[in-house]
Amino acid sequence: MTNKITVLLGLQWGDEGKGKVIDILSPQYDFVVRYQGGANAGHSIVFNNKKYVLHLIPSGIFTEHTKCVIGNGTVVDPDALLDEISLLKNEGIKLDGRLFLSEGAHLILPYHKIIDAINESTSEKIGTTKRGIGPAYYSKYARSGIRFYDFRNEDVLYNKIERNLNYLKRIFPYSDELNELEPIIVFRDQIRKFSEYRKFITDTTELLHNALNDKKNILLEGAQGTLLDIDFGTYPYVTSSHPTAGGASIGSGIPPLKINSVIGVVKAYTTRVGEGPFPTELIDDYGKKIAKLGVEFGATTGRPRRCGWLDLVALKYACEINGVTEIVLTKADVLDEFDEIQVCVAYENNSLKFTRFIPYVDFLNNCKPVYKSFKGWKTHINQFKDYNSFPTEFHQFVEFIENFINTKISFISTGASREEMIIRN
Ligand code: IMP
Repeated sequence: MTNKITVLLGLQWGDEGKGKVIDILSPQYDFVVRYQGGANAGHSIVFNNKKYVLHLIPSGIFTEHTKCVIGNGTVVDPDALLDEISLLKNEGIKLDGRLFLSEGAHLILPYHKIIDAINESTSEKIGTTKRGIGPAYYSKYARSGIRFYDFRNEDVLYNKIERNLNYLKRIFPYSDELNELEPIIVFRDQIRKFSEYRKFITDTTELLHNALNDKKNILLEGAQGTLLDIDFGTYPYVTSSHPTAGGASIGSGIPPLKINSVIGVVKAYTTRVGEGPFPTELIDDYGKKIAKLGVEFGATTGRPRRCGWLDLVALKYACEINGVTEIVLTKADVLDEFDEIQVCVAYENNSLKFTRFIPYVDFLNNCKPVYKSFKGWKTHINQFKDYNSFPTEFHQFVEFIENFINTKISFISTGASREEMIIRN
């Protein structure tokens, strides 16, 4: 039997409920790997009747035998990392020999967070999480970023910090916060923090290749969602990494041909945080009702999420980009009370009909959704323990989605807890 190498990712604009799915699937895997993003993610998990939100450390950490890797494709804020380490330790969760951080991952330094805040204070804002993600990836691609490798030579590390800070002070001369940052203070602070987490740093590419050779099962955990991908998302209203399946290989070192399944997570409606196009957005009582029933507030920033109907045009595109092999449908229970439920099956733009998603802002801002209506099932679906017992209206909704995207919905989540998950055979 071949070992399972699975990518699990979001098919919308993030917040699809991936945390719970990873938590449920983790026992089947020896390793769970984060491959992109940083502490901008917010994965909520209910463990021992308590809710936890993890931003950086994979949610697989709650499964005792599972090892967790923060891969080379991520950007890591040492403050966020240390906060999570301390939170998990306080809960009695063992980390030694279970948490591994790639030497090749880039650091988010205080100046990245300052620049994120400066950029977000302008009219060109993206609506970021202000966690320094974009500026850290900017440093990475400008080839001036700092990786955990750099702590091997403190002189080199200091010089890099000094050079980066001097450069940024020249670009943003009016930022008091930036001007007050002294290279030596930043350097000493980072060295001190490094000593607290250095034991977790390793060559994760080697670790994962050994795991592949030992036929271990590996789950690659995507953060954010496909429509926030820097290439395939609604650029520039995107995050600065690749939440898509292609990013899993780049951000972990696992060869593409080793990946044998891609599980896509999709919410029964759509949400988005921050700016950017959203064709099915509901700026009416329906939108408010979804937000209220779905408790749609950002897990990282607490911002209210924009809500709208499920967009099958976008979903089909996301399935194609990622080569999704099966789907987890989440939060369908949020629609339990609705008399009528809509899904978008095409866009109308300048009197033309489009059934293909084009990730171009001007196009999408001009698109009006064409909807198909479904009669609501009007009952609490969390009472059903197998798919056949669900009401006909629910079957019609699920099966229409499957046919439209030509992909099987294998799991249906009917509530927040681990137990509320129906597996369809
Ligand atoms: P950044 O990733 O903080 O640079 O933010 C870029 C965009 O991605 C903004 O619209 C954020 O709201 C969005 N974003 C980043 N992380 C998440 C997430 O985990 N869930 C949903 N949206 C996110």
